[in-house]
Amino acid sequence: MDISVRLEIKKQTVREEIEKAISSVKGVYYQRSGGPCDLVILEIDDGFEFQHLRSFQASSIFLTSDRVDSGLLVQALKAGIKEFFPQPVKKDDVRDALLKLREQKGETKAPKEKKGKLINVIGSKGGVGTTTAAVNLAAALADLGKQVALVDMNLLFGEVPVLLNLNASFNWGEVVRNISRLDSSYLMGILSKHTSGLYVLPSPPELDGFRGNGASGVVDKLLRLMQGMFDFVIVDGGHSLDDTSLKGLEVADSVFLVTELSVPCLTNVKKLLWTFRQLGYPREEDTKVIVTRYHKKSLIQPKDAEESIQKKIHWCIPNDYFAVTSAINQGKTLAAVARNAEISKSLKELALETIGRRTN
Ligand SMILES: Nc1ncnc2c1ncn2[C@@H]1O[C@H](COP(=O)(O)OP(=O)(O)O)[C@@H](O)[C@H]1O
Ligand SMILES: [Mg+2]
Repeated sequence: MDISVRLEIKKQTVREEIEKAISSVKGVYYQRSGGPCDLVILEIDDGFEFQHLRSFQASSIFLTSDRVDSGLLVQALKAGIKEFFPQPVKKDDVRDALLKLREQKGETKAPKEKKGKLINVIGSKGGVGTTTAAVNLAAALADLGKQVALVDMNLLFGEVPVLLNLNASFNWGEVVRNISRLDSSYLMGILSKHTSGLYVLPSPPELDGFRGNGASGVVDKLLRLMQGMFDFVIVDGGHSLDDTSLKGLEVADSVFLVTELSVPCLTNVKKLLWTFRQLGYPREEDTKVIVTRYHKKSLIQPKDAEESIQKKIHWCIPNDYFAVTSAINQGKTLAAVARNAEISKSLKELALETIGRRTN
């Protein structure tokens, strides 16, 4: 992190000493021109008026003076001066102060940890198209240049690797076994990278060790860590409400509740919305109802469904059995097998809407 320094110093000896300090610290350089800079080192005398400090256009100011009295120091302190060097100035004192400033500046400019959005995609029933929606929404977000992780929470019955034809070496059983080692570099090592750009964490193919106490704590730690690493964490939450699934709902920023426009599915939607209100999470405004396999000629239309569930439908993913089946059978995303199909366009629009860049 470079620091530009301007000197406003008259005494030659003082100036030379400070210049030596500047040249001894890497990343700190001497700015000869006027204008804004990171640091001004300023020599002041008796009549100095502290209100003039702002005119130096510097983020930080160090002062030096051959007069050191408590009144002057108090004024300097009040003006937010970072360092004060009594004269004769010692090169090492200036050097230490420059190192400290460089360190502080490095810290403030360091990239902030991401706070990715966690979207938990759950189904009102098995087989409605939850996994298809989760996988293809995640892929569409990755296609838009986002860093996306896809986590399969369906214990035993996870199908994300099947839909993506992914031969993953690890699943989150690995995380459970090594919870004490869990950090971003360990996690990066066990995620599988798919050609769509997605980072995938499949679910374990057996139940051992995932039931009872502790499993929901692991899910909590894992998902929060992933939020710090990715722009989006998409969870295929399946349709059960066990401890781990509830934790996945609790930590989610949004829950996409996938349903068909059928009476049994909409009845389940009503039950789930009621349960969420009882639980206190996910919040009403964070729960989005997504209709899938939507057909214009469907007997139940979206407005009928809205009346029944007393909630707006956020999105309708069209019915396209052919495209979905080809994608599943080839282990590819919908965009890869049928980029121009309505269903792929709809998922792309949903991804754009999700990142707040809707085009129409
Ligand atoms: N938009 C869609 N249009 C047509 N068929 C779909 C659609 N989404 C899913 N399907 C069908 O539903 C089946 C189950 O989809 P899947 O995503 O695995 O559901 P879930 O995860 O809810 O069990 C798929 O094999 C496919 O045949
Ligand atoms: Mg599924």
